[in-house]
Amino acid sequence: MRGVKVRGLLAAVATLLLPSVAAQDRWCGKAYKAGSPLVIPGGQLEPPSLSSTPLLDLKITPRHSIYVASEESGEFIVDAAISYVHGSPWSRSPDELKATITWQNQTLASGTIKPNTTDNLFPVDLKTMEPRMEGYPITLTAISRNSNTKYSVTTELFLLPEKSIGSVVKIDNLYGSLLYRNPTTNGVFMPIFPYGFYGDYSGYLNKSASNIENYVSKGYNVVNVVSSFADDDMSATIQTMDRVNLLFQYDMRGTYKNLSSLAWQVPLVKDHPSLLTWYTADEPDGWQDPLDAPKQAYDLIASLDKYHPTALVLNCQNYYFKEYSSGADIIMEDAYPVGINATYSKKWGTSCNETFGDCGCDNCEGTLLDVPNRIDDFQSYQAWLGGTAMRKPIWAVPQSFSIPEDYWSRDPTSDEAWVMDMLAFNHGAKARLAWIYPVSSELDKALSKLSKVVTASPVKDFLTGANPVLLQDGQQGGLDVAYWMNGNQILVSVVAPGSSAANVGIPLPSGIQVSRVVSTPWGGIGWTLDGMTLRAKGGLPSLATSLIILQ
Ligand SMILES: *[C@@H]1O[C@H](CO)[C@@H](O)[C@H](O)[C@H]1NC(C)=O
Ligand SMILES: *[C@@H]1O[C@H](CO)[C@@H](O)[C@H](O)[C@H]1NC(C)=O
Ligand SMILES: *[C@@H]1O[C@H](CO)[C@@H](O)[C@H](O)[C@H]1NC(C)=O
Ligand SMILES: *[C@@H]1O[C@H](CO)[C@@H](O)[C@H](O)[C@H]1NC(C)=O
Ligand SMILES: *[C@@H]1O[C@H](CO)[C@@H](O)[C@H](O)[C@H]1NC(C)=O
Ligand SMILES: *[C@@H]1O[C@H](CO)[C@@H](O)[C@H](O)[C@H]1NC(C)=O
Repeated sequence: MRGVKVRGLLAAVATLLLPSVAAQDRWCGKAYKAGSPLVIPGGQLEPPSLSSTPLLDLKITPRHSIYVASEESGEFIVDAAISYVHGSPWSRSPDELKATITWQNQTLASGTIKPNTTDNLFPVDLKTMEPRMEGYPITLTAISRNSNTKYSVTTELFLLPEKSIGSVVKIDNLYGSLLYRNPTTNGVFMPIFPYGFYGDYSGYLNKSASNIENYVSKGYNVVNVVSSFADDDMSATIQTMDRVNLLFQYDMRGTYKNLSSLAWQVPLVKDHPSLLTWYTADEPDGWQDPLDAPKQAYDLIASLDKYHPTALVLNCQNYYFKEYSSGADIIMEDAYPVGINATYSKKWGTSCNETFGDCGCDNCEGTLLDVPNRIDDFQSYQAWLGGTAMRKPIWAVPQSFSIPEDYWSRDPTSDEAWVMDMLAFNHGAKARLAWIYPVSSELDKALSKLSKVVTASPVKDFLTGANPVLLQDGQQGGLDVAYWMNGNQILVSVVAPGSSAANVGIPLPSGIQVSRVVSTPWGGIGWTLDGMTLRAKGGLPSLATSLIILQ
């Protein structure tokens, strides 16, 4: 986020300047200083217009963002959704598609799929292909049995040469979760649910190795160190993270627009066992960085290291999302709603609305629901954009700073911090790195407790091995409820973002077959299963969070 040491570092950008208001006096494209003329920010994505007839939205995606030579098999995900936005004309009659996946003239997989289905998996034998740095162009051809119409789409498969040092990290595109392999995993790719913070470097992580050990002992498994080799020689800190297996996101916020700096930094970091992901732009949309800057950094990083994904964080609610998000594999959001005044900025002495002002959380309401709202917004944009954008993981950057800031009058309470995390998970966030560690001892204690639950089995297995299905949306005023299915068990997450609720009964969907409560890994609430209705013993207090495993 802005504020801490980064404001002023990043220069204003000429391309987006309108004549009367300098870009550095705008945030998310909006003027925010009292007396500034109104400028229309632009760059908003709008819902696409709908086709009057159904379309077949055929898509193929490698199951994993990369494979390496030692992996003998892989998978493709084939989607054949019926859409009114993307795809080719489709007749409504019942049909089947004969699908063939090829590279040049070699058939890698084939089978039959039904229209209006997604997540069809096609195994592929990787032993027949030579590992190489370059992607393999892959074609999916689908022929309708009824009309003989031929549909065809393409993707790229990466089967990389083996990497013998450091870590290898990939995205499981089916669930948006991360898999990592390093010397601690015995050559096996392990799912990880990243739960941690951005971490202060000079004031904390670099102060003593025991600070890093302490962080790990709290149960946090990932950190984004807010520093780079362009700021300081980070070797000692990284070696400590290697030693204790604290996975880190390498943060190039201050230099990501300087490609020669990136070309120098990436080789210093890429072979470390504790490297998880790259991080380029920090709120490029807020700063109005050049629209193509994240993509340029992304392409360079991928050319130097294809073995780790790249992330960035977007701060604005809807400002050039398409352009900025094209520069990352993982899109993070950082809506901070606690203690703000969403309609009036004390700092700037102006009101805030969709075209003017900066109240610290762009187009927010100032409630905890701003967090899932933002995640939903990003998912909508991805769906509107279609194609591969749809499967990019979204990560949450929740508010847990304890520094007095102009926009935020107070810290979140423990309950609020838990609610923001769990709402983010219910709405599909696949990781959470809050801003910024160290936090208050109260928040540290609270978040450490949650981290130890969500990063470990059994909860981790649900969060990384399934997608959440939202049963009740807190935006409707009541509870926010989602479930994840894993084998014959489901994990149910219940959040009470608003007031307390008595006589809570949550009807489970008819397709689910469970008969008992296995455990309640999180929250002090007792639950019983009454037929197919989950009932809270004694109701739910305001801001309750609860995880229940059913079988
Ligand atoms: C397949 O393609 C390769 C390279 O394009 C070509 O050399 C080969 O003759 C083709 N094989 C068949 C069976 O068409
Ligand atoms: C697609 O499937 C859903 C149920 O999963 C159904 O409600 C919908 O009508 C189907 N759409 C078409 C065009 O067949
Ligand atoms: C902090 O960084 C300096 C290099 O800038 C290094 O010499 C020192 O060992 C680091 N301290 C720790 C505890 O990692
Ligand atoms: C870009 O990075 C290089 C290499 O670190 C450095 O020499 C140069 O001064 C940087 N350029 C700018 C404009 O900061
Ligand atoms: C926001 O500030 C305005 C102007 O001072 C005030 O009228 C309003 O009550 C404040 N709202 C909140 C939620 O604090
Ligand atoms: C937002 O506020 C500005 C400044 O007060 C005003 O000129 C503008 O009309 C408002 N925009 C909307 C959409 O209400």
